[in-house]
Amino acid sequence: MPSVLSHHWPWRGVIEEYREFLPVSEDTPVVTLLEGGTPLIESRAIGPSLPGRIRLLLKYEGVNPTGSFKDRGMTMAITKAKEEGDEAAATLFHEIAEVEEKHHERYVKLADRLEQGNLLSGQSEETEWKCLNCGYIHKGSEAPHVCPVCKKPQGWYMQIGFVR
Ligand SMILES: [Fe+2]
Repeated sequence: MPSVLSHHWPWRGVIEEYREFLPVSEDTPVVTLLEGGTPLIESRAIGPSLPGRIRLLLKYEGVNPTGSFKDRGMTMAITKAKEEGDEAAATLFHEIAEVEEKHHERYVKLADRLEQGNLLSGQSEETEWKCLNCGYIHKGSEAPHVCPVCKKPQGWYMQIGFVR
């Protein structure tokens, strides 16, 4: 297993960094989003409570290009599909990666709004909110505290058009 110090900088993606251990050749058309190379973060909450002198490190896979650990496997799947001439599979995997990237963008937008405290409020009076349970549309500066139709709490609402 290569050590962290053996990696090149800048990071070249999982396949290039671990090429010697993977079923690829010099002719393999590597498809990469430069996934992997994610940081290890020391757990200061859990680590100290463990017995012995264990240093607990957590791998932060959310910083992969699409926000998912799945990028690691996808690069190999797409690369091998392309190598074997399966353009349909390669295209499908590429499209899935694009969807995953959109999900990541959505998550980041929602997380930012959540941190700012205006995920479900603080908008203009013209804002439309949709109940994700029953589909009821509410117009106003904030989502209703309780859905007037299905009685689900405010957390079931999403601002229409905020994320696509
Ligand atoms: Fe509802």
